[in-house]
Amino acid sequence: MVLAVENLFIHGPSSSGPVAVVESLTLALPAATTLALVGESGCGKTITALSIMGLLPPGFFITSGSVKLGGEELTFLSKTELRQRRGKSMAMIFQEPMTALNPVMTVGRQITEVLLTHRVCPPSQARDKAIALLGQVGLKEPEKRFSSYPHEFSGGMRQRVMCVMAICANPQLIIADEPTTALDATVQAQILELLRELQSQSGAAILLITHNLLAASILADRLTVLYAGSVMETGPTAAVLNSPAHPYTRGLLGSQPRLRLGRDALCGIPPTLAAISGQVPPPGRRPLGCAFFSRCPQALKDCRDNRPHPVSKGPEHQAACFR
Ligand SMILES: Nc1ncnc2c1ncn2[C@@H]1O[C@H](COP(=O)(O)OP(=O)(O)O)[C@@H](O)[C@H]1O
Ligand SMILES: [Mg+2]
Repeated sequence: MVLAVENLFIHGPSSSGPVAVVESLTLALPAATTLALVGESGCGKTITALSIMGLLPPGFFITSGSVKLGGEELTFLSKTELRQRRGKSMAMIFQEPMTALNPVMTVGRQITEVLLTHRVCPPSQARDKAIALLGQVGLKEPEKRFSSYPHEFSGGMRQRVMCVMAICANPQLIIADEPTTALDATVQAQILELLRELQSQSGAAILLITHNLLAASILADRLTVLYAGSVMETGPTAAVLNSPAHPYTRGLLGSQPRLRLGRDALCGIPPTLAAISGQVPPPGRRPLGCAFFSRCPQALKDCRDNRPHPVSKGPEHQAACFR
């Protein structure tokens, strides 16, 4: 197993002190597979990603649970040890590449820096290696691109550069947090296709974070549906999308009427759901029982006071619902 997250709790700041942001999260991601973590804005997807990378913002901390990368427990590592794992064993692609790229440094220099930090190749070969990687992610005239600055690239090209930065040390795990949300539909499909290609070459595991079920359906082997910090449903992509077992998953699907499985079907999907009234309760104001209780069209009395545990809905398919 490349990534194994078990019973993870993350607390974050609130006006009344630390509150649970992510609760009892379990994820398993084997090599060369993709797991999509889906859910509305504010559900805790990015905080989950940052906790795996050891990059939680100030005020956030892991309170219990385990995060293992290639069998190694990450929650015990020091900041220095985590820094060594980042880039080398795990890498992250962000929604807005401009925030991750240095605007005053050429793209080539930023890539060679990663290559040299992780001793991917000797310094004398770094330039050629970087140019080859720029070509590999589909950038034309890679030699010219090597000396360009990030602002000289379009959004899609910058995301390709981010992909180079992520793959260049050959990490076992790539976390892509809304990697296509800032791009237009045709470019979105190209970047997803690129991720798939890079995965088939390297065998990396990909944790794809998205509120876009189409993006998830294109790339992911498995889906985990997160709501208000808790897993509502998890299973093989086709099983979850074709036979959603949780009312929240059905709401997510219902809010995307044009959902068709297939590469040409990408469309913009709003981060909040027209089909489910109300909003994700912020950490600290979540119901005692099921996190989805206040918005669930099928809630029972039981759901208010008791938290449902995941139950089997099919092969490797589970949902946390009393219904
Ligand atoms: N840097 C931060 N400081 C304070 N609160 C944050 C920060 N980042 C996220 N949060 C809060 O943590 C919760 C989970 O957020 P996040 O993981 O970013 O959600 P998602 O990625 O699913 O949209 C939200 O309630 C959000 O407001
Ligand atoms: Mg996010």
